[in-house]
Amino acid sequence: MDRIRIVGGKPLNGTIPISGAKNATLPLMIAGLLTDDTLVLENVPRLADVTQLQHILSNHGVDIMVKGKRPGDEDLSGQTLHISAARIVDTTAPYELVSKMRASFWVLGPLLARMGEAKVSLPGGCAIGTRPVDLLIMALERLGAAIEIDAGYVIARAKGGLKGGEIVFPKVTVGGTHTALMAAALARGETLIENAAREPEVTDLADCLIKMGAKISGAGTSRIVVEGVSRLNGARHAVLPDRIETGTYAMAVAMTGGDVLLEGARPELLQSALDTLTQAGCQISATNTGIRVARNGAGIAPIEVTTQPFPGFPTDLQAQLMALMTRAKGTSRITETIFENRFMHVQELARLGARITLDGQNAIIEGVQKLKGAPVMATDLRASVSLVIAALAAEGETMVNRVYHLDRGFERLEDKLGRCGAIVERISG
Ligand code: UD1
Repeated sequence: MDRIRIVGGKPLNGTIPISGAKNATLPLMIAGLLTDDTLVLENVPRLADVTQLQHILSNHGVDIMVKGKRPGDEDLSGQTLHISAARIVDTTAPYELVSKMRASFWVLGPLLARMGEAKVSLPGGCAIGTRPVDLLIMALERLGAAIEIDAGYVIARAKGGLKGGEIVFPKVTVGGTHTALMAAALARGETLIENAAREPEVTDLADCLIKMGAKISGAGTSRIVVEGVSRLNGARHAVLPDRIETGTYAMAVAMTGGDVLLEGARPELLQSALDTLTQAGCQISATNTGIRVARNGAGIAPIEVTTQPFPGFPTDLQAQLMALMTRAKGTSRITETIFENRFMHVQELARLGARITLDGQNAIIEGVQKLKGAPVMATDLRASVSLVIAALAAEGETMVNRVYHLDRGFERLEDKLGRCGAIVERISG
């Protein structure tokens, strides 16, 4: 199993190219199931989750061609996928595949909408809280699906096809909104989605579906209207930049000090996180090519933040912010409202010398003068990268074990940080 070795204490200076968003790529790839034409996705990040979803989709009969690098292509440029679901050979997504990646459960909506039936394994337990799928099922029922749960599988049927309906989400769910959008696109008649997620990845999916011929209005607001069509066509779509990767590197710069251009990043995708970093003492500016983040001289100021659905502060940056606050001059408070049990990084950060106490959904972080390198364990995607951020400022060497979590969501992290002066290396095996 690969490990990452980091020697802390170096400021970051230079340019980091931002990849396409993992959380947009996954639903966009799944949207390929909705048409028998080819969907071409550009700016797709090279990540373990993308490869895993390719396996899952090929199990349904989807052909995916990954376009190789062209001469002159930048080393870190995204890849292009040609996704063709001309013939769906199997409408079952088995436990062995779905249990490896929760988002693969989202094949349920498109398979049902196009084929009139689908059988998808429940994703099972997850390291961050219970993460149920009841709202995804409710959304499909509102579109006329008959759903039963048997032996760990969700079996969904819509004999005469799905029918438009009114879906009111009692809480904001990204996966629920993706599911509702994809299913409603091929349903007969109009669907209204109330309390829809406003995350940029939802808007990106809607933009792509519109290129495929779907009739959608209101994406990016909490009220989306979909007028179903009988067939969708192929399209070409470039995945939007990854706001979580952007925020993560911005926090790394805030932690180490220095001056970095996050190339290709778009400020409007993470304004709340950028505002928080400004409060913490960073200089942030939008440039023609991305976002520039700098912290020179001034220390890190403590903050109070509560995670919220978009446009609030994202839960996917909570662990990284906590790592940053371990070095603040004073006491910070972070409240997690989206997921229960999303504090697994706390114990590992403590191994580096952080002082954090937990009180229900609140974490109180008392800033310390210095962190000290130690062996630590990556527990999930966001937790692992928070350890990397802490390690970049810790005295001496930190060895981050189980980095496969990082490879699920961060493309060539060690190269991107290494280019900017960090001492970081991957140790294989
Ligand atoms: C997506 C993101 C994840 C991010 C999360 C919240 C991807 C691949 N993953 O996850 O990185 O942290 O949005 O921004 O895009 N819920 C229910 N019932 C349901 C579905 C969700 O109660 O049927 C709850 C969840 O437990 C959670 C909240 O709703 O408390 C939000 O979850 P949701 O937005 O659905 O997260 P995901 O789409 O799984």
